[in-house]
Amino acid sequence: MDFPSFYMDHLAGGRLIIGLIASLHVLINHPLAVGAYPLLTWMEWWAHKNNRPDIDQLAYKITFIVFIVTTTVGAMTGVGIWLSTSLFAPFAIGSLLRVFFWGWFAEWLVFISEVGLILWWFLTWKKANTPEKKRKHIKIGVALSIMSWLTMALIVAVLGFMMKPGEWNQTRAFWDAMTNPLYAPQLGFRTFIALMMGAVFVWFATFFFTKLKRGYEQGTGPRQLRNWVVYRMSHVVLVSLLGTYLFGTWYWSAIPETMKANSSVALLTQEFMSWHGQFQSLLGWTILVFAFIGLGGLGSSFLIPRWALLIPSLMGIWLLGHFERAREFMRKPWVIGEYMYSNGVHKDELAFLQSEGLLKHATYAKHREVTEANKVECGKDVFMLACSRCHSTTGLNGVIEKFTAMYGADKDWDSGGMALFIQGMHQTRTFMPPFPGNDKEAEALVAFIQQVRATRESLPGAQSTGVVVAPPPAPPAMTASSQP
Ligand code: HEC
Repeated sequence: MDFPSFYMDHLAGGRLIIGLIASLHVLINHPLAVGAYPLLTWMEWWAHKNNRPDIDQLAYKITFIVFIVTTTVGAMTGVGIWLSTSLFAPFAIGSLLRVFFWGWFAEWLVFISEVGLILWWFLTWKKANTPEKKRKHIKIGVALSIMSWLTMALIVAVLGFMMKPGEWNQTRAFWDAMTNPLYAPQLGFRTFIALMMGAVFVWFATFFFTKLKRGYEQGTGPRQLRNWVVYRMSHVVLVSLLGTYLFGTWYWSAIPETMKANSSVALLTQEFMSWHGQFQSLLGWTILVFAFIGLGGLGSSFLIPRWALLIPSLMGIWLLGHFERAREFMRKPWVIGEYMYSNGVHKDELAFLQSEGLLKHATYAKHREVTEANKVECGKDVFMLACSRCHSTTGLNGVIEKFTAMYGADKDWDSGGMALFIQGMHQTRTFMPPFPGNDKEAEALVAFIQQVRATRESLPGAQSTGVVVAPPPAPPAMTASSQP
């Protein structure tokens, strides 16, 4: 309501863009930054303690890959999340920034240290050629691992908060926001799945850096190195899968029941009703596959071919991706649970807007009052403010398509019925927020939708049309008796 709407017709609120960038970021951050850095540091330490330069070499080579990926795609997608969310949901990011100001400030410091430590650790690896220097070098790795985990630990507070702010909704206190009810289970879940996937990554990468040549005896050279890695990493997999399972289950049980009802449509449309509970079964299967690989690694590492490791990796990616998608969807109609709806309307101002009118109090609106002459233009603004964060006109999750499914393609759509549906949509479709305007505005929205149906005209966002701002309504006149 307080920002002009950046809108791309066909894309519906840019959820897809935010989602793609954020998922890519998580898929790099969790296994590589959070999972692999501590494991590689541990390998470096072990090599130093047991005088195994081959393990040190291997850790260095794997770190090279992790270094390149995390400092390029990893860092860029991190910035990309800020960019995309501030474009498509500035009201939400604005609110979150106010709530989490010091948390995010700390996160920024931690992130800067993390980047500095990555550079320092990787670039000085070869120079640490005395025991003294090596010990110091290992400490850099330890600091890096802690910082990588801390950035995640701080951000997860925001993610948990958005779904279930808990006490904060009464107290508005920073620490209540940080320690929201979903925080601990989600942090534990992410930590262990990161370690689990990180271990499989190190294991997988090892196969590429240990080419088996003829002439080596069993138990020496690359084969021995491979065995060493597989045996250790399978331990990490087995221990962390237990953590993933326990925290994943705890997390699932801490999600508000009303939101779980949404999980049946979490995959974008209502057609996926039968997918209910899929998080649990996916979690179960993923754990099983990792357990299989982990046990196989413990036993005889040679039975597990390289390609077989792709299965747990893909399952892990699928689980994480599904987790993020379901988490984002289940939160609907909220962007911040019980506080702000996905379209930026605050819960507290809803009743006021419904009686006074949305356009009257929106910062960017062309008209303040709906008339016969400006009806369609008003409807367009109402659509932008109330629906465009989730729907496009004729594209992805388009309202035209939705109404066509309800009323039929070759029939006239009854405008009165549509207005009634819109004003009650949150009751039948609990993932949609209540309509935040008055009767006239609902009629204007219907007039706009009817026009789009007839013309199929595409709707440009504020980024291409600029903004037109009608003067805000005059403040109520002060009378002598109303003054304090
Ligand atoms: C929080 C996001 C969100 C907002 C805001 C939102 N919707 Fe929806 N709407 C959805 C989702 C998700 C669906 C279900 C899509 C599906 O099942 O294919 C939906 C479905 C619909 C349907 C079809 C309902 C049915 O029973 O099949 C209509 C019509 C609709 N929305 C209109 C609107 C209008 C008009 C607005 C603005 C006043 C609006 N929506 C605001 C998310 C939203």
